[in-house]
Formats: sequence, C-alpha cells, structure tokens
Amino acid sequence: MLAEKHADRINKIFAKYPDKRSGVMDLLYLAQEEYGWLTEDALREVADLVDIDPTQAHSIAGFYTMFSEKPKGKYWLQVCTDLPCALRGADTFYRELCAYLGVEDGGTTDDGLFTVEQVMCLAACDRAPMMQCNFHFHEHLTIEAAKELIEKLRVQAQPETQEDGGA
Ligand code: FES
Repeated sequence: MLAEKHADRINKIFAKYPDKRSGVMDLLYLAQEEYGWLTEDALREVADLVDIDPTQAHSIAGFYTMFSEKPKGKYWLQVCTDLPCALRGADTFYRELCAYLGVEDGGTTDDGLFTVEQVMCLAACDRAPMMQCNFHFHEHLTIEAAKELIEKLRVQAQPETQEDGGA
C-alpha cells in the first residue's frame, strides 16, 4: 500500500500544495512507479489519498499519455506521430520500429521488455523523429539509431532477467 510504504514521500507531496487534491498527479506518478502501471487498486488508493472519486482518478490517468492503465514493458517507448513530427518522417519511423520489435501499435514484446505506442506532441517537434523511453527523450532519430538503443537496452536488461529466472 502506498500510504504505508511511501508515507514520507506522500507527506512531502501534500506539503507542496494548498490542498490534497492538488497532489493527485504526483501521487499517480508515485503509484505508477510502485506498481509499474496504474491498476484499478492503484487508482483507488490514489483517489482515497486525495479524497476524490476513483472515476476522477481514472479520468486524469486516461487523459495524460505519461500514465498507463495497462501493463507495459520494462522500457516504455512513446513515439510522437503528431503532425509536425509526421512531416519529418515519424509515421514511417514508428512503423519500422514496430516491425523491428515484432509488435503491433501499442503492443509489448513477448519478452516483456518493450512497449511501444504513439503519442501526441511531446514538445520536441523540431527534433523529430523523436521518442521517449521511460520519460527520457531521444531525438533526431533514425531507425538505425533506435535499433542500436533497443539492443543496448536488451543488454542492460539481461543481468536482471537472468537473476530473476527470466521473468
Ligand atoms: S509534434 Fe511531435 S514533438 Fe511536437
């Protein structure tokens, strides 16, 4: 439970705002960090903490692309395919990325490492094609550069994968 495990962080979040409700975004981030994605229970916990209805927490989580209400891979790749980026080849880049990973739009690789999805403007329009990986921006991408990044991430993930028996 967030309240027990992260009491200090939660108190610090509440201390930043004039009322508890204003801390909802910070708490959604915290819940996502804790559980990997925003489960129904996580949304209910956050709603209880800030004293709002769970449907309100659900609406907020659904509105912003930085929150996920479904399981995702260890590496969450979000490619902007909004118009300015599309004009710089983001659509083709995204298709090639999906093909390389062997997933459909919004899918997760079988090994659970990568989830890929399209998002709207991430405010890096002049540096397209771009994607964020776990909220870190990668800009001026080519499909070759993206493949290189993916392979680096696969290597990084290996020790953990082996230690936990490949789960
Ligand atoms: S349109 Fe893609 S970052 Fe702005």
